[in-house]
Amino acid sequence: MLLFHALAIAPLVSSVLGQQIWDIWETARDKSTLFKSLQPAVINFVSPGAAGAADIQVNDGAVYQQMDGFGAALTDSSAKLLSGLKSSNSNAYWELLRKLWDVADGANSAGMPVLRVPIGASDFSALGYSFDDEWNDTSFSRLSADRAPSYLWSTLADIKSIQPGIKLFFLPWSPPAWMKDSNSLNGGRVWADRSDQLAQYLFKSIQAIKNKGFDTYAISIQNEPENSNPTYPTALVAPDVAALVGNALRTLLNNNGFSRVKIIGYDHNWDHAAAYPVTMINNAPNAFAGAAFHCYGGNVGQQEDFHRAHPGKEIYFTECTGEFGSDWWSDIKWNMDNIFIGSVEHWARAAMLWNVALDGKGQQVLPGSSSCGGPGCRAVVTISGSSYTLNQEWYAIAQSNRATNPRDANGPFGQRIGSSVSGGTGWALRVTAFKTTRNNPADWNRYSLVVLNWADNPVQSVRTTIGFRGQQATYTFKTGLTTLWWYAQN
Ligand SMILES: *[C@@H]1O[C@H](CO)[C@@H](O)[C@H](O)[C@H]1NC(C)=O
Repeated sequence: MLLFHALAIAPLVSSVLGQQIWDIWETARDKSTLFKSLQPAVINFVSPGAAGAADIQVNDGAVYQQMDGFGAALTDSSAKLLSGLKSSNSNAYWELLRKLWDVADGANSAGMPVLRVPIGASDFSALGYSFDDEWNDTSFSRLSADRAPSYLWSTLADIKSIQPGIKLFFLPWSPPAWMKDSNSLNGGRVWADRSDQLAQYLFKSIQAIKNKGFDTYAISIQNEPENSNPTYPTALVAPDVAALVGNALRTLLNNNGFSRVKIIGYDHNWDHAAAYPVTMINNAPNAFAGAAFHCYGGNVGQQEDFHRAHPGKEIYFTECTGEFGSDWWSDIKWNMDNIFIGSVEHWARAAMLWNVALDGKGQQVLPGSSSCGGPGCRAVVTISGSSYTLNQEWYAIAQSNRATNPRDANGPFGQRIGSSVSGGTGWALRVTAFKTTRNNPADWNRYSLVVLNWADNPVQSVRTTIGFRGQQATYTFKTGLTTLWWYAQN
């Protein structure tokens, strides 16, 4: 770091000298390193020699989506566990909050800059509620964010104290029961003629959340609008109804000082990417910033179906969960291949897993809910009484955010740039590349790679050449996850 500053203030230093790999973070398959900074000798980019067993070409002439980063969801149940940890072991609580949400460059943290938060109960709540359960309260005089448990807001306030700029994605698992044909939060369909009321409900919820001290980055109309489940808050919202809600909500937000709040939609599985979100945005092209996807059906490549139909719209990946009983390394591979590398290759600006914290049995599931049966869902961290464990999901997120979080405090996030892999052992590497600009345009950009070496049968380290602007660096990737970066002239 000190050496770099010396270089940066020496104006005659050539760009080749700047192209040195400075910092390498690794999570090895054999757990010999776990999000560990290797602090190697600086690796120089030099005139290209023969390609390695794998050859990564980084093309910063191709610039793709702006990144928001990688994170998870603060459900009521996550907040309750975190808040219990605060009571029982305040030191562990603050240590864990920093391990999840400290975005400072180089922090030993997953550094999650995005957080998804339900409006009202989800399948991970102690009980069912919305922000306005007063029947037919169409004036929303009884709407209140205090319908949510106080531990949700107190935990969110503590998270914000660690990361004031965190981007919050709010959305309901169900609108108030009185807007639905089931007359229940659980299951049923939103009445089409309630679309204006649903827009009012979402707008007033954002206002109530703002009055609690939290700005909304993005609001989604409805979690999983094609899912009606009678055991937990869910709601069917047809795509044309979502479009009506989106248009009405956009007007309310714009007219009341919330024009920067993004509206996104769909928030459901990959398999219908060509249908629901395309129709929704066809019907309300000016209301929606984009669409969000979940992992529970279809495959990540289907994000391209939506992108082809609406190339100007944003894509977010917003939900997938781990389950207990699976294999640590297999989970790392799957999560990187499909989500933290895969969804980004298919235009996602952000990728979030489901609960940020649950206990060792995947509780608390909403009483009576059929969600997460069997061995239970695993969260990013497991909290057991007064201690916590960082799960495989934490390492996948930490390695990914290291490449895209700002280099400078409050600085710009990374943008995806072009990368390709070739060579005899090229199949072993999954790679994304990013460039991160700086607060001070005179400072050199950071260029970073997230690399999954998934060669595990047999396990093999892969000697790899990395090409960048006609220069070449050489590094041997262990089986596992590696994030590395270099500075180069802008
Ligand atoms: C609520 O409003 C709906 C639609 O106007 C009406 O059909 C229903 O009877 C009302 N319910 C109550 C309890 O007022």
